[in-house]
Amino acid sequence: MAVYDNEKSPARGRVPAHVGIIMDGNGRWAKSRFMPRSYGHLKGMERMIGLLEHAFDVGVRVVTVYALSTENLSRPKDEVDALFGLFRKYFGEYARKIIERESRLCILGDMSALPADIRGMAEKVEAESARFTGRRVNIALNYGARDEIVRAVNLAVSRGERVTKESFASLLYTGGQPDPDLIIRTGKERRLSNFLLYQAAYSELYFSDKMFPAFSDRDFDAALKDYAARDRRFGKV
Ligand code: FPP
Repeated sequence: MAVYDNEKSPARGRVPAHVGIIMDGNGRWAKSRFMPRSYGHLKGMERMIGLLEHAFDVGVRVVTVYALSTENLSRPKDEVDALFGLFRKYFGEYARKIIERESRLCILGDMSALPADIRGMAEKVEAESARFTGRRVNIALNYGARDEIVRAVNLAVSRGERVTKESFASLLYTGGQPDPDLIIRTGKERRLSNFLLYQAAYSELYFSDKMFPAFSDRDFDAALKDYAARDRRFGKV
């Protein structure tokens, strides 16, 4: 399996090849409009769809969105059900756009805990888009970085393997993909919340005070501009 060398990425220092997005703030955005949290998630999904298109238009090749953490599954049942409803809508209808843009969908996370119909729909899009090698959308669903790391350790142990940094990375859900160059978090919080902890070792971090449904294409461009001005040294001088 190819192991990407991020230091040699053609996009280094300009457009990031891989952007991770922690889509935070849907609930607060809705609350500030006296609307239910589920409305915030719906508007968040619509924003995510627009942002994916925009990111590809400006030359980003891989986008990873954090749609559901392992912890989010413990939210009240009506909120989790509303999110499941959105996933059904997304994989059933909107994910077509991913295929139309000749990009590949990949789910990161433990899908076994999700309803079988959502799993089936997501796997169908994954299989149909597997032939595309250029752009990629990773959707982190029931994802937690610590779970991902423990899972990779157990895989290596079960195979009786000693690992290297590269072979270990290939056992993660993102195996074979470039590490994120830039991670954007919306919603005013400044933490990673168990998102891509191994892969984020040298990612640039960008925090926006905007709630995710209000995070516009121009806000995304501002994050890319900020990224382009940074000096990535990867621990060297
Ligand atoms: C965090 O905001 C957001 C989530 C837990 C869900 C993110 C999901 C989407 C944007 C929509 C659907 C995605 C797909 C793949 C169809 P929050 O609820 O924690 O906001 P808060 O911090 O304001 O409460």
